[in-house]
Amino acid sequence: MALKIAVVGATGNVGTEMLNILAESDLDVGEVYAVASRRSLGREVSYGDRDLKCLDIEQFDFASMDIVLMSAGGDVSKQWSPKIIAAGAKVVIDNSSVWRMDPDVPLVVPEVNADAVEGFAKKGIVANPNCSTIQMVVALKPLHDAATIKRVVVSTYQSTSGGGRAAMDELWIQTKGIYVNDSPTPEIFPKQIAFNVIPQIDVFIDGGDTKEEWKMKAETMKILDSGVKVTATCVRVPTFIGHAESLNVEFVREMTADKARKILRESPGIMIYDKPEEKGGYITPVEASGEFATYVSRIRDDSTQDNTINMWVVADNLRKGAALNAVQIAEVMVNKGLV
Ligand SMILES: NC(=O)c1ccc[n+]([C@@H]2O[C@H](COP(=O)([O-])OP(=O)(O)OC[C@H]3O[C@@H](n4cnc5c(N)ncnc54)[C@H](OP(=O)(O)O)[C@@H]3O)[C@@H](O)[C@H]2O)c1
Repeated sequence: MALKIAVVGATGNVGTEMLNILAESDLDVGEVYAVASRRSLGREVSYGDRDLKCLDIEQFDFASMDIVLMSAGGDVSKQWSPKIIAAGAKVVIDNSSVWRMDPDVPLVVPEVNADAVEGFAKKGIVANPNCSTIQMVVALKPLHDAATIKRVVVSTYQSTSGGGRAAMDELWIQTKGIYVNDSPTPEIFPKQIAFNVIPQIDVFIDGGDTKEEWKMKAETMKILDSGVKVTATCVRVPTFIGHAESLNVEFVREMTADKARKILRESPGIMIYDKPEEKGGYITPVEASGEFATYVSRIRDDSTQDNTINMWVVADNLRKGAALNAVQIAEVMVNKGLV
């Protein structure tokens, strides 16, 4: 039977991409509903070549939904995801961080731990990981299977769209303002984002890490292997879409750059673009924007240590980092007959 799907947060950065990806997906989609806050009631959003009128979450009847794709922020997810399941929807695939570390909620990246979706029945919720975690574990999984990862040191270069629509607007307004000598007023970001980089994403926690850095560590352990050690520095940079990561990865068994390149070339969801050339030979966030793949470039041996490599990993944070991963989880659930 054709699926009934609701996208909650349909006017947002992630919700908009969810509708785009659903319209192109192989899922047998019957009806799609765009849901947001009362503020957006009646506003039109695109779904393929159709326009959908937004509905108010407070008035929407979730009872007959097969799949609810949730991306309206943590507070909305905390309140609404359990309510939506109690109302009769079969599954909520939730993009917020609220449910990710709940032991009764699977945290899933289909290329890495697709079978974990089977644990969804306890709460009816499947959690979508953090955008930076998703692209990192897609690149790490095949290498971990081959030689067991001991430790990962990661620095991120995260675009402003990771903070939502208003965060992109702040970069745009500050950038224009600087050309006419306006002094930038940070509202969403803790400091000026235009022509700057900020080594803080989310709040600080005990020990001096930020919550974003902790998420990369804790989520990788839940999705990939609790034995993998991750230390992260997460940095916001003045780009609009696409997150980049510099990884240094140490293995228990033999690993070289050549071997990693061969393994990754055959791995799902990954595109290797790695040719040292004077002008390029690697992928940047601008080129990854609007694409489906996780790109890996600059794969090289770390000459300071055995069985250790460096690589550069880039993906569209709104697609693989959020909307695409959520739709892929839906596809796994449908293929397994769970919805
Ligand atoms: N951006 C990323 O890279 C990324 C990656 C992974 C996960 N996520 C997560 O995905 C979620 C959405 O992120 P985003 O970037 O799409 O944010 P966004 O652009 O700010 O959009 C927020 C969406 O939530 C809706 N919303 C807000 N309050 C609501 C309420 N009370 N009831 C119903 N809908 C409400 C908004 O609708 P209105 O227009 O009606 O206000 C809008 O559609 C967040 O939890 C975020 O952490 C984002």
